[in-house]
Amino acid sequence: MNVNKTIEILLQESHRFPPNRSFQERAYVKDNSLFELANDFETFWNEQSKFLDWIEPFHTICDRSNPPFYSWFVGGKLNASFNCLDRHIFSGHGNKAAIIWEGEPGDRRTLTYRELWRSVNKFANALKKLGVSKGDRVAIYLPLIPEAVISMLACARIGAIHSVVFGGFSPESLRDRINDAQAKVLITADGGWRRGEVLPLKHDADVAISQCPSIKHVVIVKRGDFLLRVKEGRDHWYHRLMQEAPAHCDPEAMFSNDPLFTLYTSGSTGKPKGILHHTGGYLVWVNRTTQWVFDIRPEDVFWCTADVGWITGHSYLVYGPLSLGATIVMYEGAPDYPEKDRFWEIIERHGVTIFYTAPTAIRAFMKWGNEHPEKHDLSTLRLLGTVGEPINPAAWLWYHQTIGRGKCPIVDTWWQTETGGILISPLPGLTTTVPGSATKPLPGIDAAVLDEQGNEVPINQGGYLAIRKPWPGMLAGIWGDEERYKQVYWSKWENVYFPGDGARIDEDGNFWLLGRVDDVMNVAGHRISTMEVESALVSHPDVSEAAVVGIEHDIKGEAIAAFVTLKGGKLGDVEMVSKLKEHVANTIGAIAKPEKILFSVDLPKTRSGKIMRRLLRDIALGRVLGDTTTLADPSVVEFLKKKYEEQES
Ligand code: WT7
Repeated sequence: MNVNKTIEILLQESHRFPPNRSFQERAYVKDNSLFELANDFETFWNEQSKFLDWIEPFHTICDRSNPPFYSWFVGGKLNASFNCLDRHIFSGHGNKAAIIWEGEPGDRRTLTYRELWRSVNKFANALKKLGVSKGDRVAIYLPLIPEAVISMLACARIGAIHSVVFGGFSPESLRDRINDAQAKVLITADGGWRRGEVLPLKHDADVAISQCPSIKHVVIVKRGDFLLRVKEGRDHWYHRLMQEAPAHCDPEAMFSNDPLFTLYTSGSTGKPKGILHHTGGYLVWVNRTTQWVFDIRPEDVFWCTADVGWITGHSYLVYGPLSLGATIVMYEGAPDYPEKDRFWEIIERHGVTIFYTAPTAIRAFMKWGNEHPEKHDLSTLRLLGTVGEPINPAAWLWYHQTIGRGKCPIVDTWWQTETGGILISPLPGLTTTVPGSATKPLPGIDAAVLDEQGNEVPINQGGYLAIRKPWPGMLAGIWGDEERYKQVYWSKWENVYFPGDGARIDEDGNFWLLGRVDDVMNVAGHRISTMEVESALVSHPDVSEAAVVGIEHDIKGEAIAAFVTLKGGKLGDVEMVSKLKEHVANTIGAIAKPEKILFSVDLPKTRSGKIMRRLLRDIALGRVLGDTTTLADPSVVEFLKKKYEEQES
């Protein structure tokens, strides 16, 4: 039977997939013993901490005396780069491949653990020479090249706090993140490749740091032969620094609750939050979840397709797999470059065994057609994963049949920048999976679905996802903003973490994630706040007012629709639409580009002047309009609805 037919039948049957026997026999987790152990909070986390090498033991597992500030493995000392590098060399794995890398144009590099260790040592010394010391912030704005990992681990080695900014973000976004963290050094590249074009990273970085007084030095990795300006005294070529740097750098003994990194993510205001992660708890959590969920064994080749600019890259490209001594694959570019089979070609070439990507990518692959994966031998794959947004059952089944050949378990992993690592996910040797559900909380995670008052909602009823006990990977705070940390995550209920997602639990105890419940959109698996896009729009000289809503999109999951009022009451034309789209891309980054822009002389507002996004969403989705009786001027929505329908037809 052909694959598409099988998928159709499976969809109708709302199929369940019990773990397959052969996978289960060899799996790291194959029974409930971890869950049972987790009933004893202290013993459980103490056991889990032992998978890392500690320089000094901790005296307290989790200090819960000052909620919502929790401290993990208090008094303990360790170094993250030591745990990701040195210890694997000491145990005889120095010549094992740590990173198998491909650049978009087709260049390839493999770095063994020893080679990676050597570069990290040298670069750590180079950073020291530039005046970076423990506790300083270092911004990283690089393409997905090995130097991104080297930079992160070099910071970790000397106790500097890295702040990676995704290379697709605009100069303004970079500037704001650097200024918020007061970073001292910026590491960037002359360029990076994306779909055959060069991302002018250093050029953009120069624009950004012209407004960043805290930056004292810039390090430039030479990725290509891209022209750029070098500012004497401030700018340094990476390869020159490396030539001069001493070979050994002792890892700094860091307290478990010393910061490891900050990573910015959108909240429901215009200003991104610097999510802060500490060293010990974070590393324990990513180490354990990588082993539990991805079932990594020494011979595995693990490919997480995320960029290091996102938390997925931090946790499951760098810290999780490397702390386990695994081999990772890293690819710089686009999945459709030069052809739409690039990913499958990479899997075949390197014998990838575990593949972790986003539903958005899977839906694009589906649309591109089965002929692309069918051209390649994907038989090395044994486990598949997804992350970033809910996966629709049709995409899940396609992934299972076409990429997994019906044999690979799929782990749909729910988590966030704030949670550090995966919280809700199947365990591939244990859990019966259901397409579309992230299934159950991991050992030690007390997740529930609550109502506004904090009561558990009945089976199959929607409510708010909640995490009721602290866990080691949890964020330690928001950089420089204690109040916001308390207010955003801990103010809905007492001492219960609120992730901002809606969810329901079915009769089998499986969790179904229902999307964000705040003013945050999830576009292609990336968080963008409506406010950020709105302020980008109104920063254009011709715009007087803008309102942004998320709309359904068959590939991206969610896309952005903007309703815009221009100055002087004009209605914009096609040219204005593309101007504004470009303006948003230049202000925030290409990921924030609106899919649709509609002009209007006014926006639907309540009598007190509040924009009614609910109605705009109804319009954008072509739904029947909800209650319009509270509007100051009901004719505004009628006008918009008509305009919208005209534009769509
Ligand atoms: C938000 C977190 C975690 C790394 C990538 C995104 C949504 C994430 C799933 C999933 C349904 C998911 C949630 C969450 N999300 N994974 N498997 N099923 N929704 O990290 O940018 O911090 O975004 O992504 O809404 O809150 P992030």
